[in-house]
Amino acid sequence: MANKPMTTAEKLAAARAGAAAKPAESAPASQPAEAEASAPAAHVEAAAAPTPASLGRPLTLAEKLAAARAGGAPKPAAAPAAKAVASSPAAESAPAAPAGPPPDIPTPEKLGRPLTIAEKLAAARMMSGSAPAAGAKPAAKPAAAGAPKAAAAAKPAARELPPLDKISDPKDLAEALRQTAQKKIAESAPPPPAAKAGAKAKDAKPQTVPPKPSKGLLSKLTRRDVTIHIPANLAWVIAGWVAFNAGMTALTVMTVRFLFPNVLAEPPSTVKIGYPTDYEKEDVNERFKAEWGFWVVRSTKVNGVDEIYALQSICTHLGCPPNWLAAEQKFKCPCHGSGFYISGINFEGPAPRPLERFKVTVADDGQIVVDKSQKFQQELGQWSDPDSFIVA
Ligand code: FES
Repeated sequence: MANKPMTTAEKLAAARAGAAAKPAESAPASQPAEAEASAPAAHVEAAAAPTPASLGRPLTLAEKLAAARAGGAPKPAAAPAAKAVASSPAAESAPAAPAGPPPDIPTPEKLGRPLTIAEKLAAARMMSGSAPAAGAKPAAKPAAAGAPKAAAAAKPAARELPPLDKISDPKDLAEALRQTAQKKIAESAPPPPAAKAGAKAKDAKPQTVPPKPSKGLLSKLTRRDVTIHIPANLAWVIAGWVAFNAGMTALTVMTVRFLFPNVLAEPPSTVKIGYPTDYEKEDVNERFKAEWGFWVVRSTKVNGVDEIYALQSICTHLGCPPNWLAAEQKFKCPCHGSGFYISGINFEGPAPRPLERFKVTVADDGQIVVDKSQKFQQELGQWSDPDSFIVA
């Protein structure tokens, strides 16, 4: 018997072929006597295979399977055992054919006798491109040696086949069975490691990979730094330029302003000091000395005429303000002792010249108007000017 146990399909085919085939299946091909004894049994088995003609109806799936295992419609032939022995080496060396019945596959026509179960199984597997059965080990061993290359070279392309219950050709039925078995094996096979890894990768949660630290300054910049920090720096540059331009504009304005003289906010130079009757004869009024810097004097000692004039309260020596000494009827400078008469003429001390007068006029309302913008000096003969005094 074979080293490999028979599959269920093989057992089913053998059971359908009949119990008479058992002696032939168990008989080694290398024993001529036993093979000769098994030849009639195989003939009986082949003759017992159902056919549509013999049954008068289409074959069932089981009957088609049995017929496929049997290698097609049996043909009775009385084959001598010696021919069976002689044909076994030819069957062993038969290569697998890609399509159609290969010439080296043992057939009842070639052998002139019915095939044994082992030969039938070997022929069916060779036709379907599978390895030889274990039960036909002696006969199929040489073919098994060249099976990988032959299978690779003779493996036919998968072709579309009708459903199993509609297949009438045993070869197509064998091919359909082979394709069905391959599909079941492919479906029941565990997924490859790569597919498992891909499935795990899909199920795994995405992990955030921290960025690798780098030493270069530019390499430390991320896309976020580029998009946020560069506009910020640009804003600083713009602010700097705006400040620079503002400073330059202010400097230009100040330079142009420096070209023009400043306007001094001085007090008005004219002041109304009242009516002439407000002043007494031979008297010096100091009401306007502190604020306006002059005395109002009414005297007749200059020209013998009762006149009113305004004397500037500044010493002609070095500018000190003299004081009116009513008891002595003179102006006395506290700085260097210069003395001036009530008329303003200097008579003692370092003062080089008399005091100065301001312009005095009578306004339309009758009040005396003193104008400090115009002065009159005695040494220049200006006291004779009518604007230097008014007649009371
Ligand atoms: Fe008046 Fe010198 S400042 S005397």
